[in-house]
Amino acid sequence: MMDQMFDIQGLHIAVTGASSGFGHYFAGLLAQRGARLSLGARRLDRIKERVETIQKAGGSAVGTALDVRDRNSIEEFIQQADQNFGPIDVLINNAGVEPGAKTYMMIDEDDWDAVFETNLKSAWALSKCYTEHVVARGLKKGNIVNISSITDRRTIKGQFPYAISKAGLTRMTEILALEAPRYGIRVNALAPGYILTDVSRVLLESDNAPEFEKRIPMRRFGQFEDLDGPLLLLVSEASRYMNGSVVVVDGGHICASL
Ligand SMILES: NC(=O)c1ccc[n+]([C@@H]2O[C@H](COP(=O)([O-])OP(=O)(O)OC[C@H]3O[C@@H](n4cnc5c(N)ncnc54)[C@H](OP(=O)(O)O)[C@@H]3O)[C@@H](O)[C@H]2O)c1
Repeated sequence: MMDQMFDIQGLHIAVTGASSGFGHYFAGLLAQRGARLSLGARRLDRIKERVETIQKAGGSAVGTALDVRDRNSIEEFIQQADQNFGPIDVLINNAGVEPGAKTYMMIDEDDWDAVFETNLKSAWALSKCYTEHVVARGLKKGNIVNISSITDRRTIKGQFPYAISKAGLTRMTEILALEAPRYGIRVNALAPGYILTDVSRVLLESDNAPEFEKRIPMRRFGQFEDLDGPLLLLVSEASRYMNGSVVVVDGGHICASL
């Protein structure tokens, strides 16, 4: 019974930003559990490699070039996904960028635009396009998972404007959770703490990393595998009555004492 709840066999899941980091890892995990995957990112060579390894292992995946800052590319991604595997059961808005350790005095307008368009505006544009797909296909059912971050609620110097975009993404999740159920779609977010990827490298490989790690009650940075259970919860029927939840996975980091 419990196994059935978390069963994702045959689900069609679209993942943005699957060329590295979380998206790349999620693709492997979801394929292993029998989902059919539509993967997108700008680095098509990496997406192709990911698709090949999944297919070699007996999984089911296709890849498309995707620039989440480009509306046409988003529409093409959803259309391709539909053509390849039919109705999309779950959309994971994972693509994201971080411009490096910068303060508000160090960033310029291009940094601001790149971060906000990639991390925030794209989640709206993809969610809208996905909702149109759900309606056009007469599905009356859908599921969106946004990859936010614990910087959505705790302040940290030098993550400007990344943390602001994640605060917006969490609030967007909550507002979509009000508006999307009329289309049968529920919307939740996963908010990981710090896990070593290209996005977090600048912080986790800095001289301050040991000091930073000490502030996490569980005294370690996260690993990809720590996200397995929470992700499977959100994409599967096990979370069927969850809507507008932000699932924090951070070893207790946001509870750290002031
Ligand atoms: N690592 C952490 O500790 C941490 C913690 C909390 C939340 N997160 C979030 O997790 C998500 C994934 O980040 P990550 O840590 O896995 O970093 P990552 O390895 O740098 O992955 C980022 C992904 O986003 C894609 N991307 C960036 N701009 C894009 C665009 N314009 N169009 C399409 N795809 C784009 C990248 O692909 P291309 O460059 O090939 O396009 C890449 O696949 C992000 O939303 C990040 O904010 C990370």
